[in-house]
Amino acid sequence: MSGDQNRETIVWPEVLPQHVAIVMDGNGRWAQARSLPRHAGHREGVQSARVVTEACGRLGIKALTLFAFSSENWQRPASEVSLLMELFLRALQRETSRLVRNNIRLRLIGDRSRFSQRLQDEIAAAEELTAGNTGLQLTVAASYGGRWDLTQATAAIAREVQAGRLTPEEITPECINRYLSTADLPDPDLLIRTGGERRISNFLLWQFAYTEFYFTDVLWPDFRAPELAQAFADYARRQRRLGRTAEQVERLQRA
Ligand code: IPE
Ligand code: IPE
Ligand code: MG
Repeated sequence: MSGDQNRETIVWPEVLPQHVAIVMDGNGRWAQARSLPRHAGHREGVQSARVVTEACGRLGIKALTLFAFSSENWQRPASEVSLLMELFLRALQRETSRLVRNNIRLRLIGDRSRFSQRLQDEIAAAEELTAGNTGLQLTVAASYGGRWDLTQATAAIAREVQAGRLTPEEITPECINRYLSTADLPDPDLLIRTGGERRISNFLLWQFAYTEFYFTDVLWPDFRAPELAQAFADYARRQRRLGRTAEQVERLQRA
């Protein structure tokens, strides 16, 4: 793997994000550029996901959230959808033991009712096998949409109010957070999107309120450790003001 070969020469910045989210885009174009079928790009994309996940684990990053399949991706041709599901199933079967070895905890967020029973079972098994791991928290967003997440959270809150367990006054941003599928994760510090598009495509809409965005033209199958280091270097140069002035932030940093 190119990323692993270069590992020794990569300089990682000192300031690292705690939670990284990635829109893994550009698999199809990577394949098309090589006159290969789109699934060849998806297959190579799985390798990138493994390299990036293990690099984040080694760096001590707390959480990585990968956008693998959106609510809207169900509209793709049936043949591509079924191939992606097959690839997902095989990746779960093959990679879970590696996750265990690397102390990585895997969880899936998204509408799992749309997956086959077999895939649902495989996801549950992988989650269970890695549940006790204390290293990187790997969240795979599949059949996921930010609007789906906010909708299911709103419905759950409404049910609580209806049952008399919650009052409208208790609905705060923190309360909403608890009903989102990312409830136990901090908001992402950094979003990386590969493949050249500069949009969110219905990923973590609420959670990105103060996330730093990094867009690169590199296609996902070509995104490995050196490209990740470049994204982190860019992140390390940013000043996160969260609504304050630059002077206030600098004063807080000196204190
Ligand atoms: C991202 O690559 C993977 C999924 C959305 C499942 P694409 O398949 O969107 O690749 P492009 O954007 O067509 O190149
Ligand atoms: C975003 O990629 C979703 C994933 C990477 C899973 P898309 O290729 O579906 O996004 P659009 O359609 O270009 O916005
Ligand atoms: Mg795409």
